[in-house]
Parts: sequence; C-alpha cells; structure tokens
Amino acid sequence: MSRSLPLKSKPLALLPRRLYAQIVVTVSVILVAAFLSFGFMNADKQAAILERIIRNESEAITRNIADSCAHYLVVRDYAGLEELLVRFSEMPDMVNLQALEPDGTVLSDVNGRLHRPENPPKKKIPVPPGEAPQTELQGENLVIWHPMLANRSLGWVRIAFSLHELTEFKSSVWRTTLLLAVLGIAASTGLILLVMRRPARSIQLLSRFAGELNLKKGTVMQVPDSSSEVEELGDSLNRASLELHASEQALLAERERLAVTLESIGDGVIATDTSGKIVLLNRTAEQLTGWSMKEAAGKPLEDVFRIISETTRRPVENPVQRVMSSRQVVGLANHTALIARDGTERSIADSGAPIIDREGTVIGVVLAFRDVTEKKRTEEFIRNIFESIGEGLIVIDRQYRIMTANRAYAEQVRRPLDLIIGSTCHEISHNRDKPCHEEKDSCCPAIHTFETGEPAVMVHDHSKAGKHMAFVETRTFPIRDGSGTVVSVIETTTDITERRKLEDQLRQAQKMEAIGQLAGGVAHDFNNILTAITGYGNLLVRKTNAGDTLRHYAEQILTSAERAARLTGSLLAFSRKQVFEMKPVDLNDIVKGVDKLLRRLIGEDIELRTIVTGANLIIMADSGQIEQVLMNLVTNARDAMPNGGTLTIETGELEVDESWRREHGFERVGAYTLLAVSDTGTGMDEDTRSRIFDPFFTTKEIGRGTGLGLAIAYGIVKQHGGVINVYSEPGKGTTFRIYFPASTGFKELPMAAEARQPAPGGTETVLLAEDEELVRKLIRLVLEGAGYRVIEAKDGEEAIVLFRENREAVKLVITDVIMPRRNGKEVYDAVRSLQPEVKALFMSGYTADIIQNRGIIEQGMNYLAKPILPDTLLRKVRSVLDG
Ligand SMILES: Nc1ncnc2c1ncn2[C@@H]1O[C@H](COP(=O)(O)OP(=O)(O)OP(=O)(O)O)[C@@H](O)[C@H]1O
Ligand SMILES: [Mg+2]
Repeated sequence: MSRSLPLKSKPLALLPRRLYAQIVVTVSVILVAAFLSFGFMNADKQAAILERIIRNESEAITRNIADSCAHYLVVRDYAGLEELLVRFSEMPDMVNLQALEPDGTVLSDVNGRLHRPENPPKKKIPVPPGEAPQTELQGENLVIWHPMLANRSLGWVRIAFSLHELTEFKSSVWRTTLLLAVLGIAASTGLILLVMRRPARSIQLLSRFAGELNLKKGTVMQVPDSSSEVEELGDSLNRASLELHASEQALLAERERLAVTLESIGDGVIATDTSGKIVLLNRTAEQLTGWSMKEAAGKPLEDVFRIISETTRRPVENPVQRVMSSRQVVGLANHTALIARDGTERSIADSGAPIIDREGTVIGVVLAFRDVTEKKRTEEFIRNIFESIGEGLIVIDRQYRIMTANRAYAEQVRRPLDLIIGSTCHEISHNRDKPCHEEKDSCCPAIHTFETGEPAVMVHDHSKAGKHMAFVETRTFPIRDGSGTVVSVIETTTDITERRKLEDQLRQAQKMEAIGQLAGGVAHDFNNILTAITGYGNLLVRKTNAGDTLRHYAEQILTSAERAARLTGSLLAFSRKQVFEMKPVDLNDIVKGVDKLLRRLIGEDIELRTIVTGANLIIMADSGQIEQVLMNLVTNARDAMPNGGTLTIETGELEVDESWRREHGFERVGAYTLLAVSDTGTGMDEDTRSRIFDPFFTTKEIGRGTGLGLAIAYGIVKQHGGVINVYSEPGKGTTFRIYFPASTGFKELPMAAEARQPAPGGTETVLLAEDEELVRKLIRLVLEGAGYRVIEAKDGEEAIVLFRENREAVKLVITDVIMPRRNGKEVYDAVRSLQPEVKALFMSGYTADIIQNRGIIEQGMNYLAKPILPDTLLRKVRSVLDG
C-alpha cells in the first residue's frame, strides 16, 4: 500500500503541540486560582482586622467626645463645647460630627459650630431608641452614635468616620495578589517550558515519524534522551515500522505471486462486481476478447465478453446472473462461441463461480474460459475419421464400459448412441449382464488385448437390439497411457453377416457348379445317345403300324428315353446349364394355368387354396421352368402332408429396400413379385432346413426321392434373378417364398395351336455338319423323311469344302457347335463369307452358356439343345428357313 493516510497522520502531528499548550494552560489556571483564593482570603482577613481597629478607635473617640460634650453641657460652657467640637471635627477621617439633643435636634453640624439661639437648629434627625451606643455602616462611612450622659441623657453625638483608608488597604492587597499571580504564571510557564521541552520534542519527532510511518516503514528512528515512556513509545513505533514493512513486503510478494499466477493461467479470467461490471481481465482474457484491462474496466460484461450459441447463432445468457442467484459454479452450454472485439469467433468452454467474502457475501463473479476452437477442430477431425470408417468402432475401458462409439456401431447393434455410451459392451453387443469371458463357451478379444497388450481378432455373433442376429468380426487394439499400461481398447466391429451369407451362397453356387459341370459333361454325351435313341425310336414308330408289337416296343423305348431326357434336363436345370426362353409372363397366369394339374397331383386329402392378387405380375421368365418350380414345391408339400392338410399358393408384390436387400441376399433393390407355397405339413428342423437346396439331399426313402427337386427349383429361381427363402419349424408347416424381379414388359399373347400340328417339311437343300455319326444319320433320316435334300459333313473342315461346292443349292447349314477341325462358329463364319444369305442352325449337347461363354454362338442365333426330337427339329428347320 503506497497510499498515505493524511487524515490520520495530522492529529498525530498536532498532538505534542496541543498537549504542551494544555499543560501550560492547566498549570496557569491552577496557579491563578491558587493565588486568587489566597489573595482573597488574605485581603479579607487583613481588612477585617483593620476594620475592627478602626471601629474600636472610632468608638473610643466618639465616646470621649460624647463624655467631653456632656461635661460642657452640664457646666453649660457652650463656648468650650463648640471649641471642642470644632477641634474634633477637624480630625482626619472625620466626615461629619453632630451633637444632637435627646429629641434629635441638631446642636452642631459639620464644622462643629453650635446652633445658638441666634443660630437656631434647623433640623431634626431621628435618634436611636434607648441610651446604648450604636455603630452602623452607611456607604463608605462608619456612623457611630454615642449618648451624652450626666445622670440623664443630654443628647447624642453622631460621628461619621471615613473608611477610605480601609478601602485603600484592600485594593493594595489585591494588587499585590495579582502581581504575585502573574509572576507565578510566568514562572510556572517558564518552568514547564524548561521541563517539557525535551519530551515534547521527542514526541513531536515520534509523531512525525508515526505520521510518515507509511513512507518510512522499515526504518527506525533514534529517540533523543527522554523519559522512559517516550522511549517506550519510540520502541513501539520502531517495532511497528519494522513489522509494517515486513507485512507489506509479504503482502507485496503475495500480490506478485497472485498476479503472476493469474497471468500465467492459460485460461482467460474475467472478474466482475455484483452488477456485472468488469473489474479484472487477465492477459489471456485480453487476447481472447481483444479488450485491454484498462479499456474493459467498469464496462458491462456483455460488452466485452460477447458469447453466442454456435448452433442457433443467438446471444447466450450472461452467466453472471445465474452465478449470482445460484451462488454456485455454473458452466456454459456446449457449442458457445466468443466474438472478440475484431469480430473473430472462437469456440470456448467456460465456467463462472461466485466470489464470496469472509462474511459469506457474494461480492462478484469470476469467469474462467478457454479457446477450444483447435480442440473442437481436432475432436471433429477425429470424430470424422471415426465416423468415416465404415466399420463399427468403440473404445472401451477396463470395466468394459463403452467410452465412445461411432454411428456404424450404433447401426450394427440397432441402438441409440446415447444409450450405448456408458453401457458395457457385453450388454450392448451380447445382451449379457456379465463380461463375456465370465460366460461359458464365449471368448472376448478385448480381454486378450487388455492382458497381453496385443491386438486380437475374433468372429462372433452380436445381438442386434437384444436379438442375436449378426455375425461380427471384432478386432481389438490397445490404447496405452504414458507409462505403457493398456488403459483402454479400440474395438472395430465389422458386420460380416452379409459376407457370411455371400460365402454361403458362393459355397452353394460352387457346389452347384461342380455338380453342374459333371452333369453337363455327362449330359452332352448322354444327349447324343438320347437323340439317337429317340430319333430311331420315332422312325421305328413311323415305319410300323398301329397295333404292331414292334410299334409298342418302340413306344416303350421312346417313353423311357423321354424320362431319361427329362432327367438330363433336370440335371442341366439345377446346374443352370439350360437355355431358357425368357419372355414377359404373368405369374398369375402361370399359377392359374397349372392349377388343374396340381390338383390332380396332390390328391383329395389336401385342400388347395390359390390366392392371386388382382394386379398383373409380369416377370421375365421361362414359364415352363416356373411351372417346374411350382410342381417341385407342390410335390414336396404333398409329401409333407401324408394325412392331408392345406396347401396355399399365393402371389403378390413387394418393394425391396436397401436394408431388406442386404438382409435377405437380394441382388438389387426395387419391385419384386412374390410366389409363396405354404403347407400345414410336418415342417423341418434346423438341420434339414439348412441342406434342402443341396442336390441329392433327401429325407425320403430310396426310390421315392432323388433330392433334386429343390436343387432344381433353386437353380431355376437363381437363373431368373430371383431369391428363394424357406420358413419352417417342425410340426408347424413350411412356407417357401420366391421373389422374382418385377418386369415392366408386356406378356405375349398365347401361342397359336400350331405347335400341336404335324411337323412341317420342305424341299430345300440342307448342309448337315455333325461329328457324331449316329446323330448325323438320324438327323439326315428325319430331314430326308420330311422331303429335304441333305448334304452330310463329318467335321467343320469338310462342311466348308462341301458348302463351297454347293453354295448355290444349300439354303441352310445345320451344324453341331463342338466339332473336330473347325467348330460350328468357324463353319458359320466361313459359309457366311461365301454366301451371306445362307441360314444357320446350331445344335449342341453342351449347355448354352458354355457355348455362349466360349463365344461360339451369339445371342439371336438359332440354337437347338440335344437331345433333339424329330418334330422339334423339323419345326425349327422350317421356322429358320422361313424366318
Ligand atoms: N414342404 C416340405 N415339408 C417338409 N419337408 C420338405 C418340404 N419340402 C422339402 N422338404 C425336405 O427337403 C428335402 C429335399 O427336397 P427335394 O425336393 O429337393 O428332394 P425330394 O423331394 O426328397 O426328392 P425329389 O424332389 O428329387 O423327388 C426333402 O427330402 C424333405 O426332407
Ligand atoms: Mg421334391
């Protein structure tokens, strides 16, 4: 405290002077009083003595005069009397001498002259009663009456004596007394001055020292020789000076420390009074607000500390009022921005606290705030990284509490983020109330990472919103503190359910592929054989008459060959190696079309209900294949209901969205048509259900089922871009649902009955290229039987040579696709270069897709799959020639 206190130091300086005057005055007053009272008493006493002497003398004189007068009166010597009176009247101090007759008549007056007859008395004055002498004071005179006695009263003598001498005496006594008093005062003052000079000087010095103690603290003063009290006072002041200095130094040091602390605080600090006016601003606050302490002092807080909500952009309530009313520490809402004086905006975090004095009164508010812009940016950056990772991400502490999680994780577990954070991972991911490692048959990668500090990976199923649904690949990585201890673990969770499904599907597809390849390979040769069997069988039928035993045999051979062809067809169907005729068809039409057939198939114990929607359900499909699927499903349903039940066939429409697509393995989102077949039969257990689409999986007794029905259905559905699902529980029946992508095309009108008519013939020349002799001969027979002229070639090379030779005649080239020395495509290319107008028809026992894959034939080319039936061949040849 460098400020002085003038009001207090002044009386201190005056004190010695006043004290000094007081002592002098007091001593003088006492002396004056003493002298006066002494003088008074002394004067009074001496005056009384003198008065008594004067009185006695006067009375004696009066008595003498009265006696003398009486003598002269008795002898009547008036002259003597008069002489006596005159003589006495001339006595000093005698003011008036009167002789009076007893009645008071004045005989002589003033100068002693008698009143003779010729000088008669002029007046009469009252005399005292009786004859006793009397003395009385009249003004400054002493009046004495004395009777003149000679046996009888002869009259009175009255003398007035002057008391002037007495008065004079009294005055002189007073004068002496006063003189003495004055001398006394002078002497005492001098004496006091002499005695008090030193202590007074010391006191004065001390007083000045005390007055300047503020400035001189820390120094000591030497008190001149003085009384011990003054020295004591001096010591006390010196001590006070030293202590004051010491405490001021301590205070300054504390102040300095506080100031340095305040300035060193990285946070902005603003203190206000209770009305919200700024009283302090530290350096950081100055930098953040752009206001200097000097400029901000006394300004309302909101002028300097302008805060707005980052989300609403509206001003945020000044925290001072809240702190004042609550008397508690309050924090700002999140997302608060401070607008500096130059308009710069910074994200801040702050809190306000009341400043409470010792009496418990709130005397102001202190705000502490910090610039969190960078921190926020970093947080946002990290959050963005966190969120941009497509995988679920959580951070868990040692208690398995989820400290933070990203949205992908929340989506995986289908729970809101605020519920996830703070909950344990075993609760959220596994719906357990204990950590996973405490449960039997479960493993936890996080505990591994916590214990070993090593990353871990594990695949397990997670629960989605409490239901066990998803397969998740969990990877854990350690987060260490400064000392290297693993304090938390980052866990990434990748939902691999879809991947698993795809893997399953791939596995299924691969299985199909392998079997398909096998079947396809077998079918190729087998179809050639069948083509020959059925071809020659047909020829035999044509050459024999009805009722002929040979014809009957031939028909039996044809029936068996047909069954064999169907089986090959089935094998090709499930292995997706069949060439389908895809057209826009109405699913409802297909269902309605096979209704009768199905009724016959299921028998009478089973009720068939067909529920078709009113809408057109157009799909791109090979209707024969769809019928096949329906037949297979219905046959299975029938077999599952040996004691009867209800079979329901239903159609409908459905819009597949992204989540449904992912969950159910659809290839694309959009409109789908639904074909559902439900039964009330035995149903299936989990194990059966998981294998039903496997080729050759059957639970039926040998001879009753081949295990191909659903495999074929699966193959057909897949080839139509559809999805087939099954829902079944033992004893509760089964529902198959098939979804076909809806088509926007128009269905074709039903084909004319032309197909039923006998196969048409012709007279054109046909070049036939086929390496398989049996098949070549058969086709030649069929074609020649129908009127055509046939040129035969046993491989591609020969075919080209023969075509060159007969290029004018040949109207159609029928060629096997796979042949030695030039395949079908090469033959085709060669003949087209020679004769662009020539028509071509390809045949193969290989499947259409192999052929297409090898680039042998192209879309739109005429193609016949082996085994080839004569009627089919003739119809196709005619249509190609006419097309
Ligand atoms: N609707 C159903 N109810 C109960 N089980 C069924 C049903 N459909 C199929 N299954 C089970 O699936 C198995 C496989 O069916 P799939 O149609 O592929 O072969 P299959 O009927 O046994 O023989 P195939 O159809 O070749 O004559 C059946 O053996 C049966 O156990
Ligand atoms: Mg079946």
